[in-house]
Amino acid sequence: MGSVTRKPLIAGNWKMNLDHLQAVAFVQKLHWTLKDAGHENDSVEVAVFPPFTDIRTVQTLIDADKIPFALGAQDLSTKDSGAYTGEVSGAFLAKLDARYVIIGHSERREYHGESDDVVAAKVQAALRHGLVPVICVGETAEDLEKFGASAVPAGQLKTALEGVASDADIVVAYEPVWAIGSGQAATPDQAQEVCAKLRAVVAESLGADAAEKTRVLYGGSVKSGNIASFMREPDVDGALVGGASLVVDEFAAIIRYQKHVGV
Ligand code: PGA
Repeated sequence: MGSVTRKPLIAGNWKMNLDHLQAVAFVQKLHWTLKDAGHENDSVEVAVFPPFTDIRTVQTLIDADKIPFALGAQDLSTKDSGAYTGEVSGAFLAKLDARYVIIGHSERREYHGESDDVVAAKVQAALRHGLVPVICVGETAEDLEKFGASAVPAGQLKTALEGVASDADIVVAYEPVWAIGSGQAATPDQAQEVCAKLRAVVAESLGADAAEKTRVLYGGSVKSGNIASFMREPDVDGALVGGASLVVDEFAAIIRYQKHVGV
């Protein structure tokens, strides 16, 4: 398992699912399911990433019921304010007590043409507003065949970290594009190999201390049945979960992976 100095992070990326009313029901049910199971809040950090339109509602619920989940957004603008129709500023997300923001998810890269430079600008925007960027990197099936697993994600991360201060709080998520939503997860060995390489990139870019404290997540078809095998790997510090984060019992079981790791 990841180093004792890195608290595991289980992050649920809802993508474009659950409206604000469904979000309330979901978050309440997840909270009670974990409570009923006697889950220890301190052992793992839980974060949910709802659509923008749900964030205020989820923030209010988390606050009112003292629910120990961190809140994150799925994207943000490179700009802070101004004439940018449809964009959402990191300043607004910070005001809503969002702690995290996903940046460079492969669906943004693929459907919105987000380049490594845009990703880097978004990382800077997040950090300007005190948000923790969850920087997503990963290779396509074609990249994997041509260059192997780690070359493309390592290059993406290197660009994303340009100009980032060595003491910045960041999270890295290795998400092989071929594993996202496909039901075909990477093997724990593959995930470990690339996550270790990404940690080395953090070390090169931000220094050894940053590499030691930065959490590197695996994402792509994570389920309750495979989470424990990923979490046993020394350089995997958590998971970014899509489809399985939308099913209360399944996501709760993922959060409670320690039951299966044998620690
Ligand atoms: P998945 O998605 O868990 O549905 O494969 C992961 C992600 O896109 O973050």
